[in-house]
Amino acid sequence: MLQQSILVTATLFFSFFLTSTHGKIDRKSIVQQFNLHLNTSHPYSPVQVGNGNFAFGVDITGLQTFLPHNTLSSWGWHNDSLPLTANQTSIKYFTGVDLWTHDRLVNYKQPNEKENEKEISQWLIANPHRINLGRVGLWFGSRDNVTEEMVKGKRQVLDLWEGSIESSFELDGEVVKVGTVASPDTDSIAVEIRSVLLGKGGLGVFLDFPYASGKNKFDAPFVGVWNATKKHETFLETGRNGAIVRHVLDSTVYFAHVRWDGGAGIEREREDGHRYILKPIGKDEVFRFTVAFSQNSAPETIPMMEDVRSRARQWWQDYWENGAFLSLPISSNSSAKELQRRIILTQYLLAVNGAGKDPAQESGLVNNGWYGKFHLEMVFWHLGHWMIWNKWSLYDRSIGVYDRFLPSSIERAKKQGYEGARLGKMSDPSGRSAPGQINSLLIWQQPHPMYFAEMEYRRFPTEKTLQKWDHILTLIADFMASYAWYNDTTKVFDLGPPLHTVSENTKPNTTMNPTFELAYWRFGLDIAEKWKQRQGKPIPSKWPKVRENIAPFPMQDGLYVLHEGIKNPWTTPRFTEDHPSLLGLNGWLPQDSRLNLSIFNATVSKVYETWNFTRSYGWDFPLLALTAAKMGEREKAVEWLLHPDNAFDEIGMPVGGVRVPTPYLPAAAGLLLAVGMMAGGWEGGGGMTFPEAWKVEVEGFMKAL
Ligand SMILES: *[C@@H]1O[C@H](CO)[C@@H](O)[C@H](O)[C@H]1NC(C)=O
Ligand SMILES: *[C@@H]1O[C@H](CO)[C@@H](O)[C@H](O)[C@H]1NC(C)=O
Ligand SMILES: *[C@@H]1O[C@H](CO)[C@@H](O)[C@H](O)[C@H]1NC(C)=O
Ligand SMILES: *[C@@H]1O[C@H](CO)[C@@H](O)[C@H](O)[C@H]1NC(C)=O
Ligand SMILES: *[C@@H]1O[C@H](CO)[C@@H](O)[C@H](O)[C@H]1NC(C)=O
Ligand SMILES: *[C@@H]1O[C@H](CO)[C@@H](O)[C@H](O)[C@H]1NC(C)=O
Ligand SMILES: *[C@@H]1O[C@H](CO)[C@@H](O)[C@H](O)[C@H]1NC(C)=O
Ligand SMILES: *[C@@H]1O[C@H](CO)[C@@H](O)[C@H](O)[C@H]1NC(C)=O
Ligand SMILES: *[C@@H]1O[C@H](CO)[C@@H](O)[C@H](O)[C@H]1NC(C)=O
Ligand SMILES: *[C@@H]1O[C@H](CO)[C@@H](O)[C@H](O)[C@H]1NC(C)=O
Ligand SMILES: *[C@@H]1O[C@H](CO)[C@@H](O)[C@H](O)[C@H]1NC(C)=O
Repeated sequence: MLQQSILVTATLFFSFFLTSTHGKIDRKSIVQQFNLHLNTSHPYSPVQVGNGNFAFGVDITGLQTFLPHNTLSSWGWHNDSLPLTANQTSIKYFTGVDLWTHDRLVNYKQPNEKENEKEISQWLIANPHRINLGRVGLWFGSRDNVTEEMVKGKRQVLDLWEGSIESSFELDGEVVKVGTVASPDTDSIAVEIRSVLLGKGGLGVFLDFPYASGKNKFDAPFVGVWNATKKHETFLETGRNGAIVRHVLDSTVYFAHVRWDGGAGIEREREDGHRYILKPIGKDEVFRFTVAFSQNSAPETIPMMEDVRSRARQWWQDYWENGAFLSLPISSNSSAKELQRRIILTQYLLAVNGAGKDPAQESGLVNNGWYGKFHLEMVFWHLGHWMIWNKWSLYDRSIGVYDRFLPSSIERAKKQGYEGARLGKMSDPSGRSAPGQINSLLIWQQPHPMYFAEMEYRRFPTEKTLQKWDHILTLIADFMASYAWYNDTTKVFDLGPPLHTVSENTKPNTTMNPTFELAYWRFGLDIAEKWKQRQGKPIPSKWPKVRENIAPFPMQDGLYVLHEGIKNPWTTPRFTEDHPSLLGLNGWLPQDSRLNLSIFNATVSKVYETWNFTRSYGWDFPLLALTAAKMGEREKAVEWLLHPDNAFDEIGMPVGGVRVPTPYLPAAAGLLLAVGMMAGGWEGGGGMTFPEAWKVEVEGFMKAL
């Protein structure tokens, strides 16, 4: 017993403090086994280089020659012009709707058809939208008809360890080689082209710039409007070995700084377009250039190929070598190999697409979903894994969103007559939440900061951590406590109506006391109370009062159900698809003292039996895996992660399935969260929960709550 507890403590210590220790696993050889080797362009999910705030998707040429894959960033956004219809010409005319909320009317930011606010509502939903910064491809001289079918011997390798892409092909028997890297420090790509065609004037580079509009909620796979050339402007300024293209789309202005080695010239192809041709001059068979995208007209540096290559190599090596790692038995088991493939490619994908200054949008920087906006209820799924994998510097990049969005969250709560701060939902970088019924009525984003804060404190148990989160947790807990409504008849605190549950499939005006949200409210308030305790500060009396007296988990026929009063929960198709949030009661969340495990077990079986997983969203599978892992069902946990409805394509992108376009990043981030918890365990249990027969090596994971 004693020995065991020493061992546990040692493991705990090890997993808490190992963030940069080199372990025993040969990480490089495992990572490089999953380098991408392609021989054709991938039609909808590009191979990318990027840095978390900027990503550049390429086709088989290593550029955007044949396919207009996107160049997206965390800072490139655009507004359409405002509606011209009278009384809708400014966002101040948007009023939302008033809904009865227990004993009073509360204003919710929902489109108000009655007040004739349709256009301004839609404007607020679609604006600002994320923009495609531009396209960079190969130019084949006078042969503007070269297609992918005409080039031979296509080869492409993405080296995950170095963060670089090497591509090659033959055109008329001449080899063209292209190296592509992105800078970890600036939003730049550096490119090296090698070919005898360069010296013959038959090869160069084009840059092209699209317009943007909020017309499509999903702009996938390609973002931008290429044929509205009159609606925007570009201006070329040339200098020695370089040029700047200034792109003006209404009030959005940014710059593409182009620098090259050796002799070259750049010019606009046609007066009525935004395509520029960069032509090397002379007999050199190598041409190197950089394109740096920036909001700044004069960025400090525009790094060239060798610098970018070595900085990228260093960054990626650090990324792979620091934090956690796990090695599955890839040579003896094909499921293990597929899982390892997904894990490695996902790690690459998330460093490129899910590590920006704001939490990721669902499609990262691959294409646009929900106009490029990000969702605050998804932040747990997007960022949770960075903590478990001990990659705190990447977590730190966007976790400040809670502090940054406090003013708008306080205002939201105040306008609705609540205390504290109410987090929004579908967000742009300013913290404005898009109008919408679901957007205004979802509540499960509120306790996320408590989970993050508690994990951070366990890793960094300092005064600084306590202070960093104190004001945030206080304001959120105040909102949560004041949102819960004391029902004089039942003598419990109710959540809703109106509200939307995690699965957005119930009628909000009759939905109350959703089981998962009740548990999450209790969890969040509990952490907020602990936070005060640790600082020796008084706990606001409302917090424990709500936590202890919140409505019991609703049950019917010996099973937990989605929410109180739901009718036919297991036979109504609408209720047996979408996120199976009931599973979150144990697995995602630590086990609530109110949870009856035999009832929970029976509920899990009922979910398995009745659910239509074809209609699940990608993060549902890691959720299922976590529940299985927590129940000790090791084989099942892996089965869920590899479920046929939870596919990851050849590039490693999580397939959107029947609901959303590819990629759907929460499935990727959720995969890392689930395997991280299966490797690192959770409070009071876990340890390794991979199949018994698998020889799994892990290092550096942090225990979950
Ligand atoms: C291209 O790659 C695929 C998948 O790896 C392979 O099946 C196919 O044979 C390759 N084609 C060529 C021409 O190399
Ligand atoms: C878009 O418009 C909103 C509301 O007027 C403003 O706050 C925001 O800064 C604008 N964003 C861009 C990229 O123009
Ligand atoms: C705009 O508002 C004014 C003042 O309330 C009203 O008189 C007018 O009819 C409205 N116009 C439209 C097109 O709704
Ligand atoms: C492509 O263009 C070249 C030169 O303009 C011409 O000789 C050739 O026939 C064209 N090929 C095709 C497939 O159109
Ligand atoms: C631009 O292209 C879109 C889709 O391809 C088309 O619907 C639209 O009519 C085009 N607009 C113009 C001005 O050509
Ligand atoms: C791989 O591991 C899984 C999970 O334990 C197991 O179900 C499967 O049979 C194994 N496959 C092989 C080929 O060993
Ligand atoms: C009080 O709770 C009961 C039972 O859940 C519910 O039917 C009733 O609507 C609640 N009262 C109010 C005013 O919400
Ligand atoms: C709920 O909303 C619907 C419309 O969405 C309405 O028809 C119904 O009367 C409302 N029910 C309650 C109890 O407010
Ligand atoms: C859990 O629920 C079962 C079935 O309703 C019941 O028999 C059991 O006593 C409950 N366990 C606890 C600890 O309350
Ligand atoms: C719940 O299910 C797991 C896995 O089937 C089992 O190990 C555990 O004993 C069950 N717990 C209860 C209380 O039924
Ligand atoms: C499950 O969902 C898929 C995709 O929407 C649908 O085609 C299928 O009919 C559904 N299955 C059942 C049993 O409802």
